[in-house]
Amino acid sequence: LQIVGVGLPTWDYIVEAPFIPGPDSSIGVRLAARTGGGRVATALVTVCRLGHDASLIGQVSDDDIGRAITDELRTEGVSVDFLDNGTGQDGPKSFIIVLPRGERTILYHGGKLSSLRFSVQATHLIEKANALMLEQGYHALQPARVAADAAVPIICDIAYLDDEVFALAQLGAILIAGESVLNGSICRTAVQVVDTLVREGARAAIVTLGERGAVGRDGSGIHHVAAYSEDIVDTTGAGDVYRGAFTVGLLEGMEFQNAMNFAAIVAGLKCRAHGRSGIPGRDEVALRMYEGDSPVTEGQNNS
Ligand SMILES: Nc1ncnc2c1ncn2[C@@H]1O[C@H](COP(=O)(O)OP(=O)(O)OP(=O)(O)O)[C@@H](O)[C@H]1O
Ligand SMILES: [Mg+2]
Repeated sequence: LQIVGVGLPTWDYIVEAPFIPGPDSSIGVRLAARTGGGRVATALVTVCRLGHDASLIGQVSDDDIGRAITDELRTEGVSVDFLDNGTGQDGPKSFIIVLPRGERTILYHGGKLSSLRFSVQATHLIEKANALMLEQGYHALQPARVAADAAVPIICDIAYLDDEVFALAQLGAILIAGESVLNGSICRTAVQVVDTLVREGARAAIVTLGERGAVGRDGSGIHHVAAYSEDIVDTTGAGDVYRGAFTVGLLEGMEFQNAMNFAAIVAGLKCRAHGRSGIPGRDEVALRMYEGDSPVTEGQNNS
């Protein structure tokens, strides 16, 4: 399978801290990782760990950090032929505080790179892909229209409901949100969010709920899938890994709910280590599933 993504990779500084310090204080932390991050970028790293091909359309800064991001992606097997490093030097960076139970707090510097331009070759790449992965707020609609016209499945990460999200829903995208989608939303519950998105035209929708698993809706109804957890060290990027694994599961032909189970195992395993280092390979996931460790399903099919 070949999965193409459009996303803005970041450079992450992940520190372990005993608590989040208050104003005008100072605490010692442990620098646990300096690593590439980013929503679609980390999803595509997951796709490659699971044995498929991925290509990232996006931008990096023209400096050592941009080169480090690119090198890491290349080492993971993600194609960087469409990563543009000619748009400036102020790339996005995240400063991430991880607490002892793995909860992450992100301080995000968006940076200031000039706008991404889609080449004709990038458009062709999308048309030939098995799926297109997008992140809300970063050039999502234009490639989504290309994918929709070519009947390429679209999977998009969303953080809040806005006009862009409803336009993506109308194109038949699969929309996956974190629980923060409820902040300031007219929807009170995750089930209301997925219902709303599917009513607006989304092929399916999922809200992930951290250690409480995820809720999804597709044509066959609502699905509740529990999280898979053992040793939780760092949950940074769990949502990104979940979306990459879900996409792989779906494209490999798993039923919707089985793809949610698969994604929960992969994302749960990711949490055992900092940054991307916990993302499992294929054999390890297969072993967990064989051992019957698949998450408990709490309810289904009440559409
Ligand atoms: N503490 C945890 N224990 C077990 N599984 C977890 C935990 N946190 C996240 N996961 C798994 O990862 C999935 C996505 O996590 P979550 O809902 O926290 O996304 P997010 O916080 O939006 O992600 P990100 O950190 O990438 O922005 C969950 O549905 C679950 O399967
Ligand atoms: Mg989380």
